[in-house]
Amino acid sequence: MVRKLFRNADIYTSVDRGAPLAGTALGRVARLQGGALYSVNGVLRAVGDERDVLAVAASSGIDMEVDCQGLCLIPGFVDCHTHMCFATLREEEFGLRLEGLDYLEILRRGGGILSSVRSVRSVSEQELFCATRRQVLKALQFGTTTVEIKSGYGLNTQSELKMLRVIERVGKETALDVIPTFMGAHAVPESHTGRAGEYVDLVIDEMIPAISAQGIARFCDVFCETDIFSVEQSRRILMAAKASGLGLKIHADEVHDLGGAGLAAELPTVSAEHLLAASDASLLAMAEVGVIAVLLPGTAYSLRKEYARAAYMRKIGVPVAIATDCNPGTCYTESMPFVFGLAVLKMNLTVSEALAAATLNGAYALGMADRVGSLEPGKYADFLLLEGSTPAILAYHAGVSPVVGVYKKGELVAGQ
Ligand code: NIG
Ligand code: FE
Repeated sequence: MVRKLFRNADIYTSVDRGAPLAGTALGRVARLQGGALYSVNGVLRAVGDERDVLAVAASSGIDMEVDCQGLCLIPGFVDCHTHMCFATLREEEFGLRLEGLDYLEILRRGGGILSSVRSVRSVSEQELFCATRRQVLKALQFGTTTVEIKSGYGLNTQSELKMLRVIERVGKETALDVIPTFMGAHAVPESHTGRAGEYVDLVIDEMIPAISAQGIARFCDVFCETDIFSVEQSRRILMAAKASGLGLKIHADEVHDLGGAGLAAELPTVSAEHLLAASDASLLAMAEVGVIAVLLPGTAYSLRKEYARAAYMRKIGVPVAIATDCNPGTCYTESMPFVFGLAVLKMNLTVSEALAAATLNGAYALGMADRVGSLEPGKYADFLLLEGSTPAILAYHAGVSPVVGVYKKGELVAGQ
């Protein structure tokens, strides 16, 4: 048994009330100046005023004491949407985008996601593991303690399973909690050009059964977009995934308002991601059933698009989470502090709202809120120490990470 007391901290955390935070509750963050945490085997037993926590700790025993030196302490980031399992970068494509070529046009010409598919298929499983671990460890340095990683650069059963095995292994061999999502419907592979319907059948009849038989993914995601997968195709895939016991996610209305967000509300999915072009009607439907909007401001930044309408979502009561979308195409960053800054400065979330979106609501989007996302008894001692006196430093100190210590289950895993 390892009993740890972390004292002399300035703690900021959202408070979990059993559901994702929305509306005015999104910005309600608790602050405990002169606060402390007490953990047993990596799980929090007490959080609060130092004197109260010390009383609990003293009666149960303390094996190790850490002085947090009055630093600002927040929950570890939950990056609830990434495509971090990839083999090579796509800098050439970035250059084409800078020259004005459209992201979806690059894909139509056989680049984009399809070029990542070629490289993921061509490398060995060990090479893919090393590349993915490298990306994940970078995220850890920036304060991500729980991360979702999607497949979707395999696009056949064998290569999708290879990706999911790699993702599972990264979860076992790093400190982070890694949540695997199956995204076989990320694009139509070259083998099925012009035959998207047949590819959808393959996803439903072969991939989903194989993946659920191996219990190797927790969620299923679909790229619902013009010329990728229609609303009807997305519905078929997600209903099959649901029948197989997978949780549901959808890339919805990222480039065009196709109605993916409306489908998210209809099914409903746990979350709908991107939503740059989502209509008022779809967002209102999401608010009604509590679908979490996973906003990815780094993608709007890199694609030079309008940011998602976070203020409107807050007003109508859609729960909002933020994540990196880390991928070699539309957004190459592992940095939650970068995304946090964009959320505050470009989407006009308050600092407290951005904190909830990057932690507790991200945890809800992954079905992990019983374990992570806020600092409360029963959850993991996953937390960050920041230089700077409030979490505003995450937006204020632009382009630099103010994360100086990363603790996962009570262990120092990066920094200091
Ligand atoms: O979330 N939109 C689809 N998927 C990713 C991009 C993947 C890629 O270009 O490799 C996204 O933007
Ligand atoms: Fe994505």
